[in-house]
Amino acid sequence: MKVAVITGAGSGIGEATARRFAADGYALVLADLRTDRLSELAKDLGAVIAATDVSDEAQVAELVARAVSEYGQLDCMINNAGILGAVGPIGKMPAADFKKTLAIMTDGVFYGTKHASNAMGDSGVILNTASIAGIAGWSNHSYTAAKHAVVGLTRSAACELAPRNIRVNAVAPGNVVTQITIGLYGTPEAARDRALSRNPLPHVCTPEDIAGTFAFLAGNDGRGITGQVLVVDSGLSALPVPAEYHIRTSGFVS
Ligand SMILES: NC(=O)c1ccc[n+]([C@@H]2O[C@H](COP(=O)([O-])OP(=O)(O)OC[C@H]3O[C@@H](n4cnc5c(N)ncnc54)[C@H](O)[C@@H]3O)[C@@H](O)[C@H]2O)c1
Repeated sequence: MKVAVITGAGSGIGEATARRFAADGYALVLADLRTDRLSELAKDLGAVIAATDVSDEAQVAELVARAVSEYGQLDCMINNAGILGAVGPIGKMPAADFKKTLAIMTDGVFYGTKHASNAMGDSGVILNTASIAGIAGWSNHSYTAAKHAVVGLTRSAACELAPRNIRVNAVAPGNVVTQITIGLYGTPEAARDRALSRNPLPHVCTPEDIAGTFAFLAGNDGRGITGQVLVVDSGLSALPVPAEYHIRTSGFVS
C-alpha cells in the first residue's frame, strides 16, 4: 500500500484529494491547521490526522515523521495548504503581511519538499499546489510571488531529486470554488459566476478536477513526468491577463 501526506486537507482541493487518494487505495496522513475540520473526513477515510501549521518547519518535520512511524514509509507528499494572504496595492502592503503570506505558501512547500525527500527511499512523488498566479501576474502581489516561488522550487527540486527517482510536479488551478474564492467573491454562486464569465470552457473546475490531476501525476501514468506545472483552469490562462484581475481591496485574508 502506498502512503500519502496531504496538507490543507480540511477543505476544498485538499479534502477532494484526500477522498480521491483514499479511493485509489492510499493510506493517508491528513494535515491542517485545525484537526476539528479533519476529524469527520479522517473517520470516513480511515486516515491519520495531524494538526500542522505548514509555516513551522518543526511541525512539518513532525508530520512527515508521523507518516513514517504510522506506516513505515512515505510515497507521496502533497503540499497543498494555502490562503489568499496579503491583498491590496503594493504601495500600501505591510511587509509583515507579505512575508506571512510567503511563510505559509512558499516556506511551507519548501519544508514539505525538504522533509519528504529525506524520508523517501529510492522513489517517491512530491506534488505542489501552485496556481495560474504562479505562471502569470494574476491576482495579488504576495499570492503571485508565493506561487511563482512554488513553481521555481518544483522545477529545481525535480532536477536534484530525479536521480533518486523522486518526481516533483505542480498543479496550477484556475478558479475553483472553495473557501478561498468564496472569501474573495462573497458567495459560492458569485465565485462560480465570475469563473464562468471568464473561462473559455463553459466549466468551472472543481476540487475533484484538481484531485484527479494529482492522482494522474502520482500514479503510473505520470511516471515520465517531473519538473512540470500542469495547468487546470478551463483555458483561462490561454487568454491575456486582464488588468481588472488585480484585487482592489486591502488587508490579510487567512
Ligand atoms: N480555489 C482556487 O481557485 C485556487 C486556485 C489556485 C490555487 N489554489 C490553491 O489551492 C490550495 C488549496 O486551497 P483551496 O482553494 O482548497 O482553499 P481552502 O481554503 O478550501 O483550503 C485550504 C486549506 O489550507 C489550510 N491551511 C491554511 N493555512 C494553513 C497552514 N498554515 N498550515 C496548514 N494548513 C493551512 C486551511 O485551513 C484550509 O483547510 C492553496 O494552495 C491555494 O492557493 C486554489
